[in-house]
Amino acid sequence: MKASSTANANIALVKYWGKRNKKFMLPQTGSVSMTTEDLQSHTTVEFDPKYKEDVLIVNGKEYKKGDEEYDDYVGLFLGVVREMTGKDIKAKIVSNNNFPTAAGLASSAAGFAALAAAVNEALSLGLDDKQLSMLARRGSGSATRSVHAGFVEWKRGEEEDGSDCYAEQLFPPEHWPEFRMVIAVTSKKDKKVKSRAGMKQSVATSPFYKSWAENVVPNHIEAVKKALTEKNFKTLGETAELNALAMHAVAIATKPPVVYWNAGTMDIIHAVMDWRDEGLECYFTIDGGPQVKVMCLEKDAEEIAKRIKEFDNIEDVIITKPGSGIKITDNHLF
Ligand code: DP6
Repeated sequence: MKASSTANANIALVKYWGKRNKKFMLPQTGSVSMTTEDLQSHTTVEFDPKYKEDVLIVNGKEYKKGDEEYDDYVGLFLGVVREMTGKDIKAKIVSNNNFPTAAGLASSAAGFAALAAAVNEALSLGLDDKQLSMLARRGSGSATRSVHAGFVEWKRGEEEDGSDCYAEQLFPPEHWPEFRMVIAVTSKKDKKVKSRAGMKQSVATSPFYKSWAENVVPNHIEAVKKALTEKNFKTLGETAELNALAMHAVAIATKPPVVYWNAGTMDIIHAVMDWRDEGLECYFTIDGGPQVKVMCLEKDAEEIAKRIKEFDNIEDVIITKPGSGIKITDNHLF
């Protein structure tokens, strides 16, 4: 009852920001993302009666009862697995990320997609990818999209039990192999407000929430899907950038405010706009953290990475492209 899996972080082109049902982790809106190639979680899980309590170790750090990660993230997820299987066996989970955790680089997405795949294998649940995306969702909403490779849509669904809320692949990585995201890491510190808490407050208090969910997102989903189909980089970049700014406008207007940007974030936002005016085609997107992901095509990626490195306040630059979904591996972490 031991298995290991890898999964990659995904970066949203149309953001998920707000739940309509906390228990089933159902979103207020659909969303669209790109699964990356280079931001990977590697997770091993073992279910064994020898464990008296669940054991959770992420990037070498052990989490215990009372820690949010243990109780509210992995604890809730294992509760779902136990309810599903009717087996109350404790588990040991060891997970390593090759990128900064909890700083707006979708570590929970990669982590829970990998964990769902490993649990499926360890307990021989026989879930297909659609069912796996529904299981991963119960750990972290955005994890539902990291199950699949390439460009992915998370369907909002209508049902209250979440039975029509899952992710599916729109296009495999080979559809647009030249597409790149250059990630400017402006801080490796854990963010102060987790996406989960921030989006909950936004739904409750942001004066812009309703128009975001009802008007902005549905239009952006259609525009992004069309741009992906046609490989229209300009429309895709413009729409994704506007979508990110609208999400952050909703977040910033939340009470208390949810402001993820730092000085480095602002530098890159303005730089991208300037570079575009000079003819270097690129657009930015930002998730629940201070990192800026610059969308561009392969031919410009190295130049953009070089320019980003010239700024103060930049801790790291990572170039990534459309990548793979969950993979089972024999490489166990313990
Ligand atoms: C800003 O999936 O981390 O990155 O479902 O509460 O675990 P929970 O939240 P999470 O939120 C991600 C928010 C986002 C946008 C996105 O990835 O779509």
